[in-house]
Amino acid sequence: MYFILGIAGRGRGVVACLLYNQIMTTRERYAQLCKEINFHNYRYHVLDAPVISDAEFDRLMAELRQIEAEHPDWVTPDSPSQRAGAAPAEKFEKVRHPRPILSLANAFGAEDARAWFERIRKLDERVERAAFVVEPKIDGLSVVLHYRDGVFFQGATRGDGEIGEDISANLRTVRAIPLKIPVEKADDGPLTAGRAAQLSLFGESQPSSAVGGLPSYLVVRGEAFIPLKDFDLLNRRLAEAGEKTYLNPRNTAAGSLRQLDPAVTASRPLTLLVYQVVYAEGGQVPATQWELLAWLKRLGFPVTDVARRFERLDEALDYIQSWESRRDELPYEADGFVIKLDDLALAEDLGYVGKDPRGAIAYKFPAREVTTRLLAIEVEVGRTGVLTPRAVLEPVEIGGVIVRNATLHNFDFIAEKDIRIGDRVLVKRAGEVIPYVIGPVTEVRSGTEQAYRPPEACPACGQPVEHFEGEVAWYCVNAACPAQLVRNVEHFVSKGAMDINGLGIKIVEQLIAAGLVGDVADLYTLRREDLLALEGFAEKKADNLLAAIAESKRRPLARLLTALGIRGVGEVVARDLAQAFGSLEALAAASAEQLQMVEGIGPNIAAAIVDWFGRERNRAVLAKLKAAGVWPVSSQQSSVNSQQPLSGLTFVITGTLPTFSREGVKEFIEAHGGKVTDSVSRKTDYLVLGEAPGSKLQKAQALGIRIIGEEELRRLCGG
Ligand code: IVH
Repeated sequence: MYFILGIAGRGRGVVACLLYNQIMTTRERYAQLCKEINFHNYRYHVLDAPVISDAEFDRLMAELRQIEAEHPDWVTPDSPSQRAGAAPAEKFEKVRHPRPILSLANAFGAEDARAWFERIRKLDERVERAAFVVEPKIDGLSVVLHYRDGVFFQGATRGDGEIGEDISANLRTVRAIPLKIPVEKADDGPLTAGRAAQLSLFGESQPSSAVGGLPSYLVVRGEAFIPLKDFDLLNRRLAEAGEKTYLNPRNTAAGSLRQLDPAVTASRPLTLLVYQVVYAEGGQVPATQWELLAWLKRLGFPVTDVARRFERLDEALDYIQSWESRRDELPYEADGFVIKLDDLALAEDLGYVGKDPRGAIAYKFPAREVTTRLLAIEVEVGRTGVLTPRAVLEPVEIGGVIVRNATLHNFDFIAEKDIRIGDRVLVKRAGEVIPYVIGPVTEVRSGTEQAYRPPEACPACGQPVEHFEGEVAWYCVNAACPAQLVRNVEHFVSKGAMDINGLGIKIVEQLIAAGLVGDVADLYTLRREDLLALEGFAEKKADNLLAAIAESKRRPLARLLTALGIRGVGEVVARDLAQAFGSLEALAAASAEQLQMVEGIGPNIAAAIVDWFGRERNRAVLAKLKAAGVWPVSSQQSSVNSQQPLSGLTFVITGTLPTFSREGVKEFIEAHGGKVTDSVSRKTDYLVLGEAPGSKLQKAQALGIRIIGEEELRRLCGG
């Protein structure tokens, strides 16, 4: 059956439906879809190793929704469709935890940790020979998840440790939380190109469905959080759209989970890691923390891969200290590590002091919040004209890095917090998130601090600034503002856009200052003698730049769309638009309604696109681009990505290929539906190997990733 469906599934959904109708009932297909979607959620959100493309996943969801629309009585709370977010609630109900949800005592350094060990050693001689498990202490929100017969039915906040709030509807939207355990292998779904190539991955990391003695009632605890990268991305998008940014990942995660409207929670990039079984009935739970983590992982829960087991406390402390300087490498904010006795019965017997169990301790890292003086507030002008305030600080070290600037979010934030120039301010830096000002330390004000007033004119061009209804940002709306132009051109030539090699910010500024570039289209009419007249340009440099500019004319439509910098149109939306409309003419003529028919485009982006194409200045730029021969047409129009031979597959290139240039091979792969990334990871499907490869080859070999040459790549595409 798998084989028949497999062939049918390769790009011919209709045939697949006909076949499954012949060999299975709709009810069976429904059960299969639930299982398969749960499995793909697990691959994507827990293992971080998807085996199908987003488009294929969307198709499975659409099929599931279709069946549910016809058979609403079949829908159970663990259906994958229930993650979208239920109706808003009036208030949260209270939940009594089956056992107290404990906290942790702190240790600030190795001495404190050793003192903890001495204390418990005196209480129980078994501690002498005890082993330890060390886990990162994630700075998120503690959540408690309840499963009956393997089905998620309730989730709560920690509350006061005895009683929490029922946030089940919100937690259901967090895709890393399995709605049904154990997460089973979906081994009888359609065989897509992506899956076929990935089946070999199943072996090791596949959760076993043969976990014996699953408790009929299981309550687990974990930490919900927003990964630092996702938080940064979320804030950049918000800032770009003129909306209010969030202050920090922890509060955003907590606020997102305590939303009365689950649809809002669903839109936030929340995830979690679990680390404790709070309660279990009717089944077996491992007796050590180390085995427990492995067991939870096998059930399909997300579990940290940074945890380690040690026979001696000193080894555990060495491990923790090795992370202290590398904490930025963790994808979330960790305020330390937790040291736990591995023997759970021993830990239990030791009891607790207040709310802190004796069997574990939090080894806290030094705080990454410091105070320093706010010397000035500078205002930056972004590509879309958004004005953003930036703090100029008395330089200060935070976690080994000297911080001189920090974000102040927006002008409302400065007013709400009453931040004054000259104030001592609390600043935080965590991971790769841009350092941010938390607020002023008002207790130490001298009276000489000065209140801040947002600028009434753009600091770059002097034109009055404007504010739009419903937005928090202030804008410079002068289309000829030089600061915006620099950012615009910088974006146009950047890697994900027209990718013009050798055109860095310095040269962009030079070209604009010399009056050679008044808009992005002017890049294509630059002459050799223009460049030679600029400082630092010799013949070779000028020729190289002109060649790179000429070469960029071949970029596909999606790249040009990204490059134009239309509000809300990033790489993903640009690709969808290119596919749906095929040409700039068609896109320019599209109405907001037509634009909204494209998956993922809502009224705001649609309005921004219509507005962009309606502006005289932009139309003039497009006309100039067309005249210069920068007018790509999508070859992929209306072909669904997943039907292409490389859809769902990720490639990394290393070394020089026989006939392809670096850019050429990337475009070839993308044109056949594949994706190209810079570095090898577990998500990589193929390494394309050329002459004189770099270290990517060793990494791919270590990870067991398939290695192919140019010829094999062409064969994969049927060439
Ligand atoms: S164990 C008895 N493990 O830290 C179990 N807690 O300051 C006590 N936390 O409220 C908790 N990561 O929200 C434990 N790996 C981890 C943790 C962790 C984060 C949080 C948890 C707890 C707080 C204590």
